[in-house]
Amino acid sequence: MSGKWKLALLIVLGVALIGVGLVGVYMDDFPWSNTDNVVDGDSRMLPIPVLLVDENEDENIADYNIVAQQGQTSFFNNVSTPTLGYNGSFLGPVIKVRRGQLVNMHVQNDLAEDTSVHWHGLEVGGTSDGGPHQVIRPGTVWQPSFVVDQPAATLWFHPHVIGSTAIQVYEGLAGLLIVEDEHSDRLNIPKDYGVNDIPLIIQDRSFNRDGSFDYSSNMMDGVLGDTILVNGAITPTLKVDQINMRFRLVNGANARNFNIELSNRGEFYQIASDGGFLEKPVKSQRLFLSPGERAEIIVDFSAYNEGDVIVLTSGNIRIMTFVVGKKRVDTTEIPETLVEVATLDVSKVTAIKTIELNGMGHMVSLNGKQFDIHRIDDNVSLGAIEIWEITTLRTMMGGMGHPFHIHGTQFQVLSRNGKKPSEKERGFKDTVFVGAGETVRIIVQFKHKGIYMYHCHILEHEEAGMMGQLEVE
Ligand code: C2O
Ligand code: CU
Ligand code: CU
Repeated sequence: MSGKWKLALLIVLGVALIGVGLVGVYMDDFPWSNTDNVVDGDSRMLPIPVLLVDENEDENIADYNIVAQQGQTSFFNNVSTPTLGYNGSFLGPVIKVRRGQLVNMHVQNDLAEDTSVHWHGLEVGGTSDGGPHQVIRPGTVWQPSFVVDQPAATLWFHPHVIGSTAIQVYEGLAGLLIVEDEHSDRLNIPKDYGVNDIPLIIQDRSFNRDGSFDYSSNMMDGVLGDTILVNGAITPTLKVDQINMRFRLVNGANARNFNIELSNRGEFYQIASDGGFLEKPVKSQRLFLSPGERAEIIVDFSAYNEGDVIVLTSGNIRIMTFVVGKKRVDTTEIPETLVEVATLDVSKVTAIKTIELNGMGHMVSLNGKQFDIHRIDDNVSLGAIEIWEITTLRTMMGGMGHPFHIHGTQFQVLSRNGKKPSEKERGFKDTVFVGAGETVRIIVQFKHKGIYMYHCHILEHEEAGMMGQLEVE
């Protein structure tokens, strides 16, 4: 071939390659995928939410100021996303309270719309719960006070207003509420916040080309995103020394279930569920978390070598990466036993109730009805212990599972499909996943007066009406 022909061929090939490249970019609806997560040759580091400062000097009283506000967040280089946050542009600070403490919250709404702040998992009176009855109008402040009276646990907070819960959470309103008590003080587990005790708020989001969130609420069965955020950063990295690391995991997604594993199938220990510590650490390789659920795990990184890279995954989704660092003296331990979990007394049960979660997409119902804020669906007397049997239908198309949550209480799982629940579900919980065709029996006590919600924690299902309310008197 002559030189001229060679040159022509090269030009043709070059043009073809550029063409393929352009089509590739053009057809990619999500230009910033999980894999495009490299900043200056380094992965994004895991942000650690700040601990909110208690404004009260008296250690028996806490005063916390929270402002719901609008902001801009850079999830990608040179692109900013309009977001919402508490005291910042996305997500919020961690609020730490102690059992026995009187807590005064001052929640200011600087948004242009109504909001509310619900303390998910907190056992407080109905007027402090922050559900749809405690709307905070723009420019106003809501100031609930309560005494913390429940075991150490990882709880969280998020909006709960009719019609905009799902979108406000999606845009960034969520934060962690940590309860500590004398048991958590005494345990020699990792508890140095931000050092060996790390919160992981796991969420999924989709983005438009201009960087804004793509919240497509007409998606069937809740909004799923194609990009994973942990503490507000896209599939970030955390450097860990060769020590015990405790992670407080929150499934903060609107609708996605996570099946959490380490990429090397390594083992870890689950030490807590939604409402606090399990009786003893449960060794496993996998952790299932449906929306709203939390768990605490300890990973013993002393079993790894410097430079090891371990990815936290869910199926084929990358959540985040751990890069193992140096060996270091570690005085913490994974104890044989954690706490004694008190059990609610089945012989004191005064009512057995059934909850049927049905439907898909926008056609959802709870006990055949859709939520009505002017209707109380259930009355409970103060202190009553009840059994609730929660079922979901298996339909011809298979049906789907729903994470069922009750406000203002922590319950225990008695059985799943007639069988004793797994060790991971034997602690206190406030959200339980009920798979398609499953029946889950829980035992629950209502210790405070007021009106409380119970609902599916797929936020789009909740908003489509898969929610009821009960009144404790
Ligand atoms: Cu996470 Cu009704 O709440
Ligand atoms: Cu809740
Ligand atoms: Cu649901």
